[in-house]
Amino acid sequence: MSLFALKSSILITCAKGITPFLKEEIASLGFPVRSEQIAGVETEGTLEDTIRLNLSIRTGQRVLYLLRSFTARTPDDLYKKMVNIPWEDYFQKNGYVCITSSVDNPSVKDTRFANLKSKDAIVDRFYERFGSRPSSGPKRDQSVIFIYWKKDRCSIYVDTSGESLARRGYRKIPLAAPMQETLAASVILASRWKSGETYINPMCGSGTLAIEAALMAIGRDPGIIRNNFGFMHVNGFDKPRWRKIKGLSEITKKLYRGKIIATDRNPRAIEAAQRNAAAAGVEHLIDFSVCDFSDTPVPKETGVIIMNPEYGERMGEINELRDTYKKIGDYFKQKCAGYRGYIFTGNMELAKHVGLRAQSRTPFYNSNIECRLLGYDLYSGSRKTPSKK
Ligand SMILES: C[S@@+](CC[C@H](N)C(=O)[O-])C[C@H]1O[C@@H](n2cnc3c(N)ncnc32)[C@H](O)[C@@H]1O
Repeated sequence: MSLFALKSSILITCAKGITPFLKEEIASLGFPVRSEQIAGVETEGTLEDTIRLNLSIRTGQRVLYLLRSFTARTPDDLYKKMVNIPWEDYFQKNGYVCITSSVDNPSVKDTRFANLKSKDAIVDRFYERFGSRPSSGPKRDQSVIFIYWKKDRCSIYVDTSGESLARRGYRKIPLAAPMQETLAASVILASRWKSGETYINPMCGSGTLAIEAALMAIGRDPGIIRNNFGFMHVNGFDKPRWRKIKGLSEITKKLYRGKIIATDRNPRAIEAAQRNAAAAGVEHLIDFSVCDFSDTPVPKETGVIIMNPEYGERMGEINELRDTYKKIGDYFKQKCAGYRGYIFTGNMELAKHVGLRAQSRTPFYNSNIECRLLGYDLYSGSRKTPSKK
């Protein structure tokens, strides 16, 4: 039986706060949800299934396929268990292996030591059998192994993603404070935007929120732009089959008749966003323009308007930002009646200056900054007068 047909546990990791959205995604792809953790969801399937998961998952960071679970109290125990795994079944003897880990074991002060012990075990096994060994190092572009070692329980995974799934490959021009792609996708899911509704993203920066929305609108797999994943470096990977899967994935699955609008006052941001959208294959779906957020056109149809203003942690001055947040509130009140408004921010003090009562506050983390997606129902004045916080 091919390695790719063997069923095992699969752990999909994500940033804190994203688990509920990842869970929904996994279930909607038809996979069972076995358990959920603060930063991940456990499902099950074959290595073949990890191909689909890597291509389609929008909110997760890594798809980890469980190889072995065992008890290990010390690094020597770890070595003994690792040297007995038939690594030659999984990886090429003259390949390249990157070992990563998360270790919480009293006998290990430095996680790098667990990685080193594991590397020694793999290399010794290859050397003993074939007289040659794979090289190893920090690059994640070939075979990647992940060790999760908590107390005396150790789980060994193949990282079938390799590089994080947040790296979709469409961000071509670096810009200050971009939102991670996986976070942007989660924020859109949290806004409950329905494809078909208008989607407006003033202050779009490098365009991540608009691009992720466009990918969702046409049901395009977020992994389609990438040419390299960890699963491609596992023995038995079937290239022609992969080309077929990718070809099928490239077919547009849904027609989008709504409107996606993205604006920013910085022409360089719009130029970058357009280039990124073109790389993602969705440029034709987004109306880009350079303007102050308050001049962003709001079509009569209903939908979602979402902004990610600076929040003073990485750029921008707090005093100026207070005024910006107040003006966002004014814009919502005066121009966006009928829409659902959202502000993604890591500064609740600044958020108070919006002057509207948030109906929802969804927690997220941007790197290690605690953030909120604040949701506002923007009724026209007569239906409900927005009240000050
Ligand atoms: C935190 S960044 C947005 C990052 C974006 N979510 C991304 O993924 O790249 C904030 C953006 O707001 C823009 N901005 C700030 N004040 C603005 C204003 N008054 N009108 C329009 N854009 C503004 C900045 O140029 C910057 O690109």
